[in-house]
Amino acid sequence: MSLVTVTINDKKLQVEEGTSILEAAKSANIYIPTLCHMNLHGGVEHNPGSCRVCVVEIEGRKNLAPSCNTMVAEGMVINTNSIRAITSRRTVVELLLSDHPQDCLLCEKNMHCELQALAADMGIREMKYKGEMSTFPKDFSSASIERNLDKCILCRRCVTACGKIQTVSVLSAVNRGFHTIISPAFGLPMVDTNCTFCGQCVSVCPTGALTQVNNTTKVWEALNHKDKFVIVQTAPAVRAALGECFGDTSGKAVTGKMVAALRAMGFDKVFDTDFAADLTIMEEAAELIDRMNNGGRLPMLTSCCPAWINYFEHEFKDMLDVPSSCKSPQQMFGAIAKNYYAKKMNLNPENMVVVSVMPCLAKKYEASREEMKNDVDIVISTRELAKMIKEAGISFHSLPNEEFDSFLGESTGASVLFGVTGGVMEAALRTAYEWITGEGLENVEFSMIRGLDGIREATVQIKDREVKAAIANGLGNARILLNKIRNGEADYQIIEIMACPGGCINGGGQPYLRGDYEVLKRRAGALYEEDQNKPIRKSHENPAIIKLYEEFLDKPNSEIAHHLLHTQYFYKEIS
Ligand code: FES
Repeated sequence: MSLVTVTINDKKLQVEEGTSILEAAKSANIYIPTLCHMNLHGGVEHNPGSCRVCVVEIEGRKNLAPSCNTMVAEGMVINTNSIRAITSRRTVVELLLSDHPQDCLLCEKNMHCELQALAADMGIREMKYKGEMSTFPKDFSSASIERNLDKCILCRRCVTACGKIQTVSVLSAVNRGFHTIISPAFGLPMVDTNCTFCGQCVSVCPTGALTQVNNTTKVWEALNHKDKFVIVQTAPAVRAALGECFGDTSGKAVTGKMVAALRAMGFDKVFDTDFAADLTIMEEAAELIDRMNNGGRLPMLTSCCPAWINYFEHEFKDMLDVPSSCKSPQQMFGAIAKNYYAKKMNLNPENMVVVSVMPCLAKKYEASREEMKNDVDIVISTRELAKMIKEAGISFHSLPNEEFDSFLGESTGASVLFGVTGGVMEAALRTAYEWITGEGLENVEFSMIRGLDGIREATVQIKDREVKAAIANGLGNARILLNKIRNGEADYQIIEIMACPGGCINGGGQPYLRGDYEVLKRRAGALYEEDQNKPIRKSHENPAIIKLYEEFLDKPNSEIAHHLLHTQYFYKEIS
């Protein structure tokens, strides 16, 4: 590709032909504000050029140009900060605000809203344009995601995330002109669509138009109820990102401080979903070996991710017997807490409240599913936990590092990996290898299946057996693998699928990335480090899990294990 020479703010630079003015300016450390533009995961550029917040002045051109979708040309002279460009950008934001509810203080996205940040950066102090406000019915139909179209600025980032990356395509622009809205077809509430509740639309929405359902008040009520025994479990990806909400740089696990904060908030016991992840591996590895030895349906797909479960329940009705029947670690934890822990500790399960802290918004929906709604009572996201810690006035950085409570807090390195794409597979292979061969696995790290590529494949030699494995993250990538299976083109034995690109570290309830996907590598690194530092790194060696089988479950896939830890899937017709 040839280079062109341009001048931006009196700075001469050479950039590749085909580069946008925005990217060229960025390469010279010149900041131009944007709103509708965003780099989405996997190199997908969302560039509708619709908001005009990024306009710049180009010498010799009559009109200002949107820098995000105007390409550089040889000899171009650009001024990003001419008074005309600055005034125009400010006017765009003022016009957006003129049709935006003025309730920033009450908004779920307060302090995280890109429109609010732009208005602050531009020094907007008064509402210049006043007129009739658009109002739309709000959609509070789901347990996971809320839609408030009054706050939508029509950037369509959610449309691209839902349609191009996840290939679910629930959200699209309907109507024309002033009547355009972003909506499911026929204005259906989210709960009546094929929405998977992955929350990737919430992750990219710049304003409060798409937000998580906030359950923090429910948790405070439970904690303040004198007759309730309130326990909490935290998923592995939460510890890898929570620190970011308190100003830490990404890539630092804050496990010990998180535990201390939860204890300070008043939870009776602070437990770890990782315990249940180890349990999941026991059940899932046993199921895989059984299917491989007894002619069962292969490949077996992992079933930890509820958004992925929603996806195939809607779109792959001919394959409902392919996923493992194991419940997710969140649900297994709830079932064990209320049926085993309660008995052991002499607690009445009716008086127990099981709270989950998850990186995921679909987990809220999962906990409300009819067939397992008694397992977990309240689900909050990483962002909600951060809010609660702040609300409680806890000085996060001053907290000591504390340990999870025994014994539902005991876990191995394998279970920590559940937070990153490929981690469930790696944990399952560590156990399957030793169970199949009867030999100790020396190098527990399956580096060939690590990484953040959307689809990864590997053949793992387990003695004289070759196990073909595949991993997909992001539902668009999952669709590619599922179609291969459907068309008889895949000879894998096991497939791991996570709905969110990168896995749970990029769940819809995690701190916002704002297009910086390098953060995911650092979050993944934090989990790999935690795995390395654990004294036990294979799920089947977790002493608390061994005891659980001895005292209660007997063996993996026993009758009681099936009753408590496994589930069924149902075809859901798309409206
Ligand atoms: Fe360029 Fe919206 S950011 S037009």
